[in-house]
Amino acid sequence: RRDPEPEPEPEPEPVPARGEKRILCVGLVCLDIITVVPAYPAEDTDTRYRWGRRGRAMGQPRRCSSQGRPGTHAPRPCRCMSQRWQRGGNASNSCTVLALLGAPCAFMGSLAPGHAGDFIAADFQRRGVDVTHVAWQPHGDVPCACCIISAASGSRTIMLYDTNLPDVTARDFERVDLSQYKWIHWEARNAAEQAAMMRRVERHNRVRPAAELVRTSVEVEKPREELLPLMGLAHVVFISKDLARHFGYRSAPEALRGLRGRVQPGATLICAWAEEGADAVGPDGELVHSDAFPPETLVDTLGAGDTFNAAVIFALSAGRSLQDALTFGCQIAGRKCGIQGFDGIV
Ligand code: ADP
Ligand code: FRU
Repeated sequence: RRDPEPEPEPEPEPVPARGEKRILCVGLVCLDIITVVPAYPAEDTDTRYRWGRRGRAMGQPRRCSSQGRPGTHAPRPCRCMSQRWQRGGNASNSCTVLALLGAPCAFMGSLAPGHAGDFIAADFQRRGVDVTHVAWQPHGDVPCACCIISAASGSRTIMLYDTNLPDVTARDFERVDLSQYKWIHWEARNAAEQAAMMRRVERHNRVRPAAELVRTSVEVEKPREELLPLMGLAHVVFISKDLARHFGYRSAPEALRGLRGRVQPGATLICAWAEEGADAVGPDGELVHSDAFPPETLVDTLGAGDTFNAAVIFALSAGRSLQDALTFGCQIAGRKCGIQGFDGIV
C-alpha cells in the first residue's frame, strides 16, 4: 500500500508593494502570431509585397501581386501590413488589462521551456504580472495561435494549436495562498480540476469574515457540455455570445433569461455581445445593460472579450455597482477595439 502523498507546502508569495490583495486569473496563455492584412485573404492565394524606397518612407506600398490558381483570382490588396508576436490566451490577456488598469494581478497556467515560453515569461514580467503559479511542464508544446486581423473590418480570425500541454490542476492550486487574493477568475478549460479549485475557495470563504472573502468568477466561452457545471460555482459568471448562440439565443438578454437558472442564488450572470454592448443580471435579479462604445475605426478586436472581463472584474472588485462595472467594461473594451494590441486602453 502506498502512503498518501504529503500535501504540498504553500509557497511564500511576494506581497504587492501597496499591501493590496491581488486578482488571480487561471487559464490559458499562448503565443499569438498576428498578421495584420488590409482585407481578409482569399483561400489558396499567394500574396507578395515589395516596399519601394519612396513607398517605404511614405508608408505606402509600391507594388503588390496576389496570385491564386490560374483564372481564379482577381488582383486584390491582401498583402501583409505588419506582423507581431503577442502573449495571448484569455486569462493571460485579462492579466495584461488588469495590470494596465493598475491592479496587482497574477497568472496561473501552464508553460513549457523554449523560445515561446521565454518570450511569454518575459512579457508577463514586463507587464508586472506575478507568475509564481505558472506551472512549467516538462512535456508538451506551448499553445500557439495564428491570428489574422483584417484592417478593413477589425475582425480577428484565430487558428489555435492547443493540444498536448497539461493544464494546471487542483493539486497545483493547493499551493496558492488564498489570503493573498481578493478575486480569483477562471477561464473554463479542464472543468473537473477547476471545479475542485473553486470548491477549495468556497471552503476557505466559509470560515472567513466578509472583509476577507475571496470573490470568484468564471468565463464559459466554448460551448462544451462539461464546462457548464462551472457556471454554478462562481459568484460572477461570464458567458460568450458563442455559448448563447449554441443554446439558440439571439441576444444577450434572451441568453440571460434562459441560462440564469444555471448560476447559484445570489450570483451575477454577464453576457457581452460585441457591438451591442453587454447585459447582466445581478444578485437581486436586476437586469442591467450597457451599450458598446465603438471606436472611430475598428482596428483590432483580438482580446476584446478578455478586456471586457478584466475591466468588469476590476470595477466589481473595487466595490463599484454592476451597472458601473458593465459600462466600464464596454468603455475599455471599445477603446481596445480601436488600437492594435493593448497599449493605450487607459
Ligand atoms: P470576444 O468575441 O473577443 O469574446 P465580444 O464580442 O464578446 O468579444 O465583445 C466584448 C466587448 O467588447 C463587447 O461587450 C463590447 O463592449 C466590445 N466590442 C467588441 N466588438 C465590438 C465592436 N465591433 N464595436 C464596439 N465594441 C465592441
Ligand atoms: C483572444 C484569445 C487569443 C488567443 C485565443 C485563444 O480572446 O485569447 O489571444 O489566441 O483567444 O482561444
